[in-house]
Amino acid sequence: MTSDQGSTDFPIHWLRHTSPYINSHRDSTLVIWFNGELLNSAGFASFIHDLTLLSHMGVRLVLVHGMRPQIDAEMTASGIEAHFGPPALADQPAVASSDKVRITDSTVLPALHAALGKIRCQIESAFSSGLPNTPMSGAQVTVCSGNFVVAKPYGIRLGIDYCHTGEVRKFRKSKVRQLLDNGMVVLLSPIGYSTTGELFNLHAEDVALQAAIDLNAEKLIFLHQDATCQSADKAFALREISATDSSFSAQSLPESLLPLQSIIERSLHACRNGVKRCHIVSSEQDGALLKELLTRDGSGLLVDSGSYDTIRPASNRDVAGIMQLIQPLIDDGTLRNRSKQDLERQLAEFIVAERDGSVMGCASLTVYDNQAELGCLAVHPKFRDSGKAAELVQYLIKAARKMHCISLFALTTRSGHWFREQGFVPADLQQLPDIRNNLCDQSNRGSKLYTLDLQ
Ligand SMILES: CC(C)(COP(=O)(O)OP(=O)(O)OC[C@H]1O[C@@H](n2cnc3c(N)ncnc32)[C@H](O)[C@@H]1OP(=O)(O)O)[C@@H](O)C(=O)NCCC(=O)NCCS
Repeated sequence: MTSDQGSTDFPIHWLRHTSPYINSHRDSTLVIWFNGELLNSAGFASFIHDLTLLSHMGVRLVLVHGMRPQIDAEMTASGIEAHFGPPALADQPAVASSDKVRITDSTVLPALHAALGKIRCQIESAFSSGLPNTPMSGAQVTVCSGNFVVAKPYGIRLGIDYCHTGEVRKFRKSKVRQLLDNGMVVLLSPIGYSTTGELFNLHAEDVALQAAIDLNAEKLIFLHQDATCQSADKAFALREISATDSSFSAQSLPESLLPLQSIIERSLHACRNGVKRCHIVSSEQDGALLKELLTRDGSGLLVDSGSYDTIRPASNRDVAGIMQLIQPLIDDGTLRNRSKQDLERQLAEFIVAERDGSVMGCASLTVYDNQAELGCLAVHPKFRDSGKAAELVQYLIKAARKMHCISLFALTTRSGHWFREQGFVPADLQQLPDIRNNLCDQSNRGSKLYTLDLQ
């Protein structure tokens, strides 16, 4: 067999391409929040299969379930009316302004106990099934839940006593870490106990938020039935938000995205407090979680912690900094010759990585029809080996894709292996676009060509 592309009955090509993602997720901690609606949906069984797969790949899973519809159903069955206070006060950063806060008085507690017991049984039994000829065959996942969250009362606000509604006070992270170290899946419910031993009803989103921050999770993932990147009229699209982008406000979302407002706010809070990435993924789309984790394009909305350093298009004030960075590399023959005047002429093609106002890295992107050249990649020696060049390349890959380029190429004399580690493959110089070939100085520098397929 010479190629894996032709197989129609089994997606070998796809499977092989998931390996880098599987490797990168192994031993990483993912906190996954899902609401009571998902527990009631037809997709719940597949969701458990996907979680089992992730657990077997070595992902450390912390699951946080909601239970609002289940509590409501128990209350309705017992003829108890639900009461909610006004939205939470804006001075609480962890609590989104759009949340309704349930008043959990003593009449609600039996419904809460019943809903909680049923949900835990539902989840534990789903993880325990292992019948032959099902995706769970041979699976052995141990789910562990317990008193990991310390709560405090929400108290009396604007004259309303919220009784057994509470807030997260502390998360017992070292105990949870021990369980994850032992290969268990940790299940957190939206409840906590106070130091007086009372039970408090919490926002599941806040439990997930605190767990992700305290466990320093690689990812906090929210599964939501309304997760989408576009407003209903498709006029507004939002694929990625950076937590460092001060111009973004979750308060100004179009109406159709408002159901996501509170989890976007929590995601921003998480990313500003040590969580690397948050994802808001559809709970309605079969396999959206796996697509997010195991494919290049992912799915859903990404909230990124951003970088303490900024990568941005270069401007006139960067010329001196770029020249300072590249001149020693031009002098020792690593980079091809470029004068200050050349740089000024080509400045629109350059991006820089900046820290505290000084240029720590740069790269350029030149487009020839549907191919783009990545050039002049350099990182200041003081800042090397921290992934900065890889970030610059990722930035340019996105830019090249936006310009509908089908491939990216680089000519290099010394960094071929580095480019190969970024996914580039060696190519014949004949593959250079004609116009670039005419300008090329590789004949005397002996540069080699590396290309990256962008399709
Ligand atoms: C190549 C260069 C841009 C990498 O910058 P960086 O920010 O350190 O890169 P990253 O942090 O993303 O990657 C660092 C890794 O690549 C490795 N690496 C660096 N240069 C390499 C090279 N020439 N060949 C193979 N591997 C290399 C490092 O050892 C490190 O490996 P590790 O993660 O196993 O420790 C930087 O070394 C540089 O400015 N070099 C001089 C200019 C140059 O050669 N530019 C490329 C030609 S256009």
